[in-house]
Amino acid sequence: MAAGTGAGTDVGRACDSGEARGDAQALAAALAALLPARFGVAVTAGAMADHRDTLRPEELPAIARAVDRRVHEFSTGRLLARQAMIRLGMPDAPIPRAADRSPVWPAACQGSITHAGGHVLAAVTRRESLCGLGVDLEEAHRVTAELHAKLFTPTERARLLDPAPGATATRRAALLFSAKEAVYKAVHPSVGVFIGFQEVEVAIAGDIDAPAGAFSMRYVGTHAPNRIMETGLGYFCSVDTRYVLTAFVIP
Ligand SMILES: CC(C)(COP(=O)(O)OP(=O)(O)OC[C@H]1O[C@@H](n2cnc3c(N)ncnc32)[C@H](O)[C@@H]1OP(=O)(O)O)[C@@H](O)C(=O)NCCC(=O)NCCS
Repeated sequence: MAAGTGAGTDVGRACDSGEARGDAQALAAALAALLPARFGVAVTAGAMADHRDTLRPEELPAIARAVDRRVHEFSTGRLLARQAMIRLGMPDAPIPRAADRSPVWPAACQGSITHAGGHVLAAVTRRESLCGLGVDLEEAHRVTAELHAKLFTPTERARLLDPAPGATATRRAALLFSAKEAVYKAVHPSVGVFIGFQEVEVAIAGDIDAPAGAFSMRYVGTHAPNRIMETGLGYFCSVDTRYVLTAFVIP
């Protein structure tokens, strides 16, 4: 796969230590490598830190009653998203939060933000480049077996999870979950309705344990506009076996 428009951790101040900067660089590079260059996506990543002083007035209501950890993840995401906009040659405009918690991107661009394990990633592209973009980072160990019945359809559990106990099943579960979250971020801003975990089915192309791969989505719910996800393209990779990273684009 061709690399995306670029990856970076030029959030210097978002990376507190050399180790954190190395992790962020690896995550940014992995995400940029997943996204085909034709979609023109700029990727930035950094360690979660306190960047509340960089927030714009329009963004402050989103953290008015937030605890410090939430202020850190929100402010790091906004800082990284603005740096991605700059990389695309766009003004670094405010990104308020909508009532449904989605970021309100400036008219000229769209993007997606994710946080996990103290890391934050932002992906931004020009509005005309895609109909939807979602990215998601998950820590591989977090999607435990008790959650499977809620998060996965019977078909997903039978095909992708049940025959593989242990660490492999855990990573597969994290991948399926992350894919659904990335899809939600790509579809929800345009369709505008909540999409339940049982309304979608992930189909993995190729070996689920390969270092990088692709997935597609089937919509099995009843709200027809959500079928737009069936035209989308999903990409995944593992980073250090600790993280699963997914991206979903609707061309
Ligand atoms: C919105 C959601 C997908 C976020 O995923 P998450 O793993 O909890 O958290 P992440 O750190 O990866 O992503 C959080 C970011 O998602 C973005 N986000 C939140 N709501 C969003 C929405 N409705 N549309 C697009 N992006 C959204 C925000 O940028 C948020 O970060 P911010 O508040 O700092 O700006 C998740 O909380 C959710 O509500 N899931 C339920 C619906 C779902 O996933 N269905 C699956 C079937 S499609």
